[in-house]
Amino acid sequence: MNRQFAAMLFGIAMLCAALGAAAEEVSSLRGHALTDASDPVLNKQTLAVPGGFQVGWEEQPPMIPHPIDKYSIDLRQNGCLKCHSQATFEANNAPKVADSHFYDRDGNRLDALAPRRYFCTQCHAPQAGAMPLVENVFERR
Ligand code: HEC
Ligand code: HEC
Repeated sequence: MNRQFAAMLFGIAMLCAALGAAAEEVSSLRGHALTDASDPVLNKQTLAVPGGFQVGWEEQPPMIPHPIDKYSIDLRQNGCLKCHSQATFEANNAPKVADSHFYDRDGNRLDALAPRRYFCTQCHAPQAGAMPLVENVFERR
């Protein structure tokens, strides 16, 4: 092994060590090292928000203004559709799923809810009385 090659190997080894040390110092916004296992997700009770929410932009999925702890969505049934489907919304005085939920991705109108809209909570979020994970420092200018 000539000296230049040895020096190069030594350089690479030092670089790896430095990168390793830098990686260890990185921590998540929640204050954990990235190598820690994350906290288990707490099953917080979902809340009622009387009056609902304004949406921030036209195509935002509206947030869910009522608790959803008792409704589940699985292969056999969808608890949300007991009140929000075309057949049930009137009797439950609930808003009907949006018209957009009947179109497939190619723009074809379907007779029933589009499968891609089946998992409602993929887009519609409930509220929980949880403390913010990180402080919000946003300021409107
Ligand atoms: C027992 C009937 C019922 C069930 C079940 C139900 N909802 Fe609702 N939902 C309502 C009613 C009624 C409203 C109107 C606002 C209110 O009274 O809280 C509403 C409002 C909403 C809204 C707000 C719509 C808007 O335009 O702001 C969303 C989103 C929603 N529900 C989603 C869901 C999802 C997702 C599920 C299933 C996890 C679900 N709902 C289950 C009755 C129900
Ligand atoms: C892929 C995302 C997505 C999924 C999945 C989804 N929605 Fe929506 N939803 C939206 C968006 C975006 C809007 C608002 C824009 C619009 O009208 O399409 C909306 C609007 C709504 C509204 C308000 C309708 C109105 O007239 O104001 C209701 C109620 C609703 N969705 C219920 C549901 C229910 C119940 C499910 C499950 C069966 C569901 N959504 C699944 C994205 C989604």
